[in-house]
Amino acid sequence: MRIFLVGCTGFIGTSLANRLASNGHELELLAREPSRVGLDTERVAVVPGDPLQPGMWQDRLKEAEAVVNLTGAPIFSRWTATRKKLIYESRIHSTANVVAAIGKPGASVHTLVNASAAGYYGFCGDEPKTEEGRAGDDFLARLCVDWEKEALKACHLGVRVVTPRIGVVLAAHGGALAKMLPAFRLGIGGRLGNGRQWFPWIHLADLVEILCFLLASKEIHGPVNSCAPNPVRNREFTAALARALHRPAILPIPGWLLTLVFGEMGGVLLEGNRMVPSLLTRQGFSFRFPDIDSALADLVKKA
Ligand SMILES: NC(=O)c1ccc[n+]([C@@H]2O[C@H](COP(=O)([O-])OP(=O)(O)OC[C@H]3O[C@@H](n4cnc5c(N)ncnc54)[C@H](OP(=O)(O)O)[C@@H]3O)[C@@H](O)[C@H]2O)c1
Repeated sequence: MRIFLVGCTGFIGTSLANRLASNGHELELLAREPSRVGLDTERVAVVPGDPLQPGMWQDRLKEAEAVVNLTGAPIFSRWTATRKKLIYESRIHSTANVVAAIGKPGASVHTLVNASAAGYYGFCGDEPKTEEGRAGDDFLARLCVDWEKEALKACHLGVRVVTPRIGVVLAAHGGALAKMLPAFRLGIGGRLGNGRQWFPWIHLADLVEILCFLLASKEIHGPVNSCAPNPVRNREFTAALARALHRPAILPIPGWLLTLVFGEMGGVLLEGNRMVPSLLTRQGFSFRFPDIDSALADLVKKA
C-alpha cells in the first residue's frame, strides 16, 4: 500500500514506519524537521511540513491509499493553560488538516488510522471498559472525544476510519517505562499513591502489530481498544517491574506529592481505567505479550 504517515517521527511512529517499510509498503513521512528523522530514508520518503498548518504536504497525502496520524504534543508535563492548549490543538488541528486533505478533489485515500487514547474512558474504578463504554469527563477524556469526532468526519468522504484508543505504551527505549526504569533500578521505585488505580498497558511491539492489523483490515472501523488483554493495577505493575529487575520497590510516591509536582496531570497518574481490548480479542488478534510479566521480562532484557 501507499501509506502517508503523520506524527510518525516520534516514539510509536518510528517503530511503526520501520515495520511497515519491512513489510514492503511504500511510505511517505511528514516531518517538521526532516533532518531529525531517525529512520532509514532509503525506505521512507520524507515530506517537509507541519501537520498543524495546511500546506503542500496535503497534496502528497491525498495521493496515498492509507494514512496514519499519531500527532500529539506530549502530555507528561505540568499542565499550564498554554500546555493544555498545545496538547489539545496539536491533536485536533492536525486531524482536521488530515481530513481536509482526504477531502480534496481526486483524493485516493480509503483508510485513516487516527490515534486516540485510553484516556477516553476517564477515571472509572474497577469496571472493565470495552469499546461500548461511556466517555469520561476530565480534560483528557473530552480531548479524546473531540479528537475521534474530528477523525470520524472522514467517514462522510467514504473513508474507513479507525481510532485506536491506545493504552500506556511500554518499550525499553522510551515512553513511560524508560522514565521509571532509573528509579526502579536503584531500588527506589514504588507504587503511585495507593496503587489501586488500573493501568491499561501495551508492549510497543504488540501496538505496532495492532496498527498494521488495523491498516490491513477491510472491515474494522471506529474505536479499537489497543491495550494488552490483562490490564493491571499500579501496585501490581510496580511489583512486576521490581520482580523483573530483581530490586525492591518499597518507596511509594504519595499522591499529594504527584499533585504538587504535576498539578492536574498528577490526577492521571493517580487514577486510571480498566480498558480491555474487546474488539481485538473478538477479531482473533494474537498478542505476543498478553501479561505484564512476559512484557517486562522482554523489555528489561532489552533496556
Ligand atoms: N506513548 C503512549 O504511551 C501513548 C498512549 C496513548 C496514546 N498515545 C498517542 O499516540 C500518539 C503518538 O504517541 P508517541 O508516544 O509516539 O508521541 P511522540 O513520541 O511525542 O510523537 C508525537 C508526534 O507528534 C508530533 N508533534 C508533537 N507535538 C507537535 C506539535 N506541536 N506540532 C506538530 N507536531 C507535533 C511529533 O513531531 P516532532 O517529531 O516534529 O516533534 C511526533 O511526530 C500521540 O497522539 C499520543 O497521544 C500515546
